[in-house]
This record gives sequence, C-alpha cells and structure tokens, in this order.
Amino acid sequence: MNIAVFGLGYVGCVSAACLADRGHAVVGVDVDPHKVSLVTKGEASVIEPGLDDLLAAVVERGLLRATTDTADAVLNTDLALVCVGTPSLPNGSLDVSSVIRVTEQIGAALSRSDRDYVIAIRSTMLPGIIERQLVGVIERASGRTVGKGLGLCVNPEFLREGTALADFQAPPFTVIGAIDDRSGEVVEGMYAGLAAPVYRVSPQAASMVKYASNAYHALKVSFANEIGVLCNALAIDSHDVMDVFVQDHRLNVSKAYLKPGFAFGGSCLPKDLRALLYAVRRMTSTCRCSGLSCQATTCTSSGSSTPSRHLAIATSPCSASASSGAPMICVRVHW
Ligand SMILES: NC(=O)c1ccc[n+]([C@@H]2O[C@H](COP(=O)([O-])OP(=O)(O)OC[C@H]3O[C@@H](n4cnc5c(N)ncnc54)[C@H](O)[C@@H]3O)[C@@H](O)[C@H]2O)c1
Repeated sequence: MNIAVFGLGYVGCVSAACLADRGHAVVGVDVDPHKVSLVTKGEASVIEPGLDDLLAAVVERGLLRATTDTADAVLNTDLALVCVGTPSLPNGSLDVSSVIRVTEQIGAALSRSDRDYVIAIRSTMLPGIIERQLVGVIERASGRTVGKGLGLCVNPEFLREGTALADFQAPPFTVIGAIDDRSGEVVEGMYAGLAAPVYRVSPQAASMVKYASNAYHALKVSFANEIGVLCNALAIDSHDVMDVFVQDHRLNVSKAYLKPGFAFGGSCLPKDLRALLYAVRRMTSTCRCSGLSCQATTCTSSGSSTPSRHLAIATSPCSASASSGAPMICVRVHW
C-alpha cells in the first residue's frame, strides 16, 4: 500500500518506519525541514531504542522517503495517516489546529485528483471533532464528499515511549472508527499481519477508547500510590501488598467491575471502604501539629512555584504528637 504519514514526531517516525518495514511504500511529511532531512538520512528526530536502525534500513531499501511537500505525498499515495501533535491548551482543552491545518492541506491536494483516498487520524482527539469539524474542513478544501471515494476515520495510537517499536508490532488491539465502511477496510488492510485483534466501532467510540484507556492507566497509577501512602503510614511493605494484589486475575486485574451502570453496593464494598476511610481519618487526626509549622513532615513539592494541593507524609513522629506514638499522615493543603 502507498501511505503518507503526516507529522514526523514520535508517533509519525515510529509509524513510518514500522509500516515501511512491513513492506508498504511510505512517504513521511513534516512542516519542519530539519525533521524531513533527518528521516531522509535514515535518522529519527526522537530518541527511541531501535528506531534509528530501523529507519536507516527502510530508507536504504527504498521503502521510506520524506518531504515537506503535502501535494507530492498525497498525489502519490492512497492513504494518509495523520500523526501531528494535539497539545493541551492552558484551560485543559485540546489544540487541534495542526490536525485541521493538515487536513486542509490534504484536502487542497485532493482537489487536484479524483482517485479514491482515505484519511486516518492517528492523533489523539476528543470524540466528535471529526464529525463536527474535520468533515467540513476536508469537504471544503477538496470539493469532494466524505464517504464517496474520500474516506475518513479515527485510528488511535496506543504505543508507549521507550517500547514504541514493540508496541507498534504487537499492540493490545487495533481500533478503527470509520465514517464509511470502505475506509475502515483500507485501514484494516494497512495493519494486516499484526498480532492484534481489530475492533471496528463508530468514530466517536474509537476516540473515546483512547481516552478511557489513558484515564484508566492514570487511575491505576494513582490507586497504587494511594495504597502505597497508606501502607507506608502503617509500616507495611506496599510492594508486598501490590505484588499479591495483581495476582488476582479474576477480580482485581480483570474485566470485573468495568461495565458502566453496575451498582456499587453489596455487603462488603461499602463496609470495607468505610473502614479504610475511617482508618485514614483517624491517622490524620492523631497529628495535632498546626499544618505548615510541622517540622516532621516532608513536603515533596516544597520549592515549587506552582500552587498545588498535596498530601505530605510525616516520616517521623512530629513534635506535637510524638507522645501518641501512632502512625500519622500530616495533611498540608496549598492552593
Ligand atoms: N508520543 C506518544 O507516546 C503518543 C502515544 C499515543 C498517541 N500520541 C498522540 O499522537 C499525536 C502525535 O504525538 P507526537 O508525540 O508524535 O507529537 P510530536 O509533537 O512529537 O510530533 C508532531 C509532528 O507533527 C508535525 N506537524 C505539525 N503540523 C504539521 C503539518 N501541517 N504537516 C506536517 N507535519 C506537521 C510537527 O512538526 C511534529 O514533527 C498526538 O495527538 C499525541 O497525543 C502520542
């Protein structure tokens, strides 16, 4: 398949190299001429184990080239994989201006061609942006109609920096949310041979799978840290606890409890959670120090100029409550 990869940053470099390695003819496109010249020489613009070697090999085999010329890339390919950045704005919303700009440029190039074409959005975007914004942008720029020889779909990326090549070759799954069936089939064909199940869903569901996955990963990190905080306060080895915890693949690390709409209740969940929260409150209240004046606490974010809310854990008894000998958590709140 002839593929154009837009954006030669982390995701784009890895995708371009891995797709070329699977035998596709790939053109990498970036607005940054330095990144284009690096890839042309078979070098990556990012540090990732194995990536430089793979890029050098596929460039040498003639399977990957790079350009700043969008029209050259679009008019010589059947599919564009959009991997440009979607950074956070100060209010937390997403800056999708690069995706909009790139789809405009692809659309303008397509106005000079009537060949079938598919645009797959690999960049992470909130659900609905494709339907509300990108369809209109592409249709206006190309003068063509999405769904009639011009396909559009969401195809989120799940790779992790540091293990990106292995993650590309063996992802947890491939998710494709196509506006039209044909583009879904074309994108599925691009990944043919990868050892991963393919899920075809709506474009909105495909976008949401990416956010649900990252939200869940964040939840796991926070949960493990919270258990760690509690264990430390109780002088329990938190790694002993979590090493055993993850061995339960029936309830703990499993599909259990992950269906939206299921009730939180039963005889144990509310009771045991209440007991845990009571224990934490009791430990907190054993420290009678007056917040910021407590000398025994370790403030991990002290010195930071950014106001933040955090818990500081007393690593040794503070003077105000040393006599109690009870484990304690000293809570400091900064806003
Ligand atoms: N980095 C990761 O581990 C990772 C993992 C999964 C998903 N993602 C998502 O993938 C997307 C890309 O992430 P990244 O880390 O590769 O970003 P990046 O900032 O490393 O790379 C983006 C590239 O796009 C280029 N670009 C911008 N406008 C362009 C245009 N009009 N035409 C061509 N190129 C253009 C930039 O010059 C840059 O090289 C983001 O939406 C990100 O959230 C990233």
